[in-house]
Amino acid sequence: MSGSGRVFRIAVIPGDGIGAEVVPEGLRVLDRLAGMSGGNLAFEFEHFPWGCEYYLRTGRMMDADGLARLRHADAIYFGAVGWPGVPDHVSLWGLRLAICQGFDQYACVRPVRLLPGIASPLRDATGDRIDWVVVRENSEGEYAGAGGRNFAGRGTASEVAVQTALFTAQGCERIIRYAFELALTRKRAKVTSVTKSNAQQFGMTLWDETFTRVAKEYPAVETESWLVDAMAARFVLRPETLEVVVGSNLFGDILSDLGSALAGSMGVAASANIDPEGRYPSMFEPVHGSAPDIAGKGVANPIAAIWTVAMMLDHLGLASEAARVMHAIEAATAAGRVTADLGGTLTTIEAGDAILAAL
Ligand code: NAI
Ligand code: MG
Repeated sequence: MSGSGRVFRIAVIPGDGIGAEVVPEGLRVLDRLAGMSGGNLAFEFEHFPWGCEYYLRTGRMMDADGLARLRHADAIYFGAVGWPGVPDHVSLWGLRLAICQGFDQYACVRPVRLLPGIASPLRDATGDRIDWVVVRENSEGEYAGAGGRNFAGRGTASEVAVQTALFTAQGCERIIRYAFELALTRKRAKVTSVTKSNAQQFGMTLWDETFTRVAKEYPAVETESWLVDAMAARFVLRPETLEVVVGSNLFGDILSDLGSALAGSMGVAASANIDPEGRYPSMFEPVHGSAPDIAGKGVANPIAAIWTVAMMLDHLGLASEAARVMHAIEAATAAGRVTADLGGTLTTIEAGDAILAAL
């Protein structure tokens, strides 16, 4: 490649199960973009073999100096983690959460959008009605990891466990602010805050008050606060009223899966774990897990993993490349060139081929 081109260093962690099947499709898209750039753009991939197999071999989900080795990447491309035989909390905390929290990637951004040609389980779903973004607090809340188990001496069925949610004013403020900034880029500037502050009267009232305070700085943005149970129903009943939905770590996690289902499949849901301050690399991944039920069959949908590549390109300042990738995905879905979860007949690689062809 010519000396004038931009080179981006991408750390690649395919992880477990279908992670290792869908990530190569995203890498093919990046390679194709580089190939089409006439030497203006290049991606250098460094692969890390971390995951459950690595854990069973080494006793670690990632190397002890793992964060230090990822630190200088421009972005991290992640597949999925989790495999039967390794407890899910060990694999999640040992790798994905270790990276998200280690790099303070406090904004988890999850678009929910119905792509052309995809059937939603909702009656009367259209691309206009199903188009919003879940902004999930990604550094504290219910996933702060605070708590413990004790009294094992009392015997099985008599143990005690405490799991504490951690809400800080700073943590609430920065994710809420991120949501407002994102709202300013949407066709309608609106932020919906989701809590359960009627029942969770400490942490979630701190969140609510912070939301009200930050909202005052954004008079151009419409706001509303909803309880999470009612919001679950509203996702289904009045999806067209949503634009940017901001919630805690747990609520954002759950609501984004609901959103993915409404948008047709877990296989299309993309996610970005962003450090908005740019101190650390951000991490891009599909929302879905390792899907052991379909792993190894070559049928996993690569769209989520490719959509998150578009989010990565956007984050790297490559907006037109990102738009090209999204258009290519849309062309493939519109033509029905999709995997079985979306009613198609293609394999993972064939679905990747269809998107590459549209690029
Ligand atoms: P999952 O997302 O792996 O699978 C849920 C269902 O969606 C399965 O029926 C699966 O076949 C289907 N599915 C998921 N992705 C698909 C795709 N690309 N194409 C077609 N179908 C797809 O969630 P599950 O089964 O609860 O968890 C499996 C493992 O993944 C567990 O070990 C869990 O801890 C882990 N996990 C990891 C995540 C991560 O790395 N970010 C997120 C969620 C789960
Ligand atoms: Mg989840």
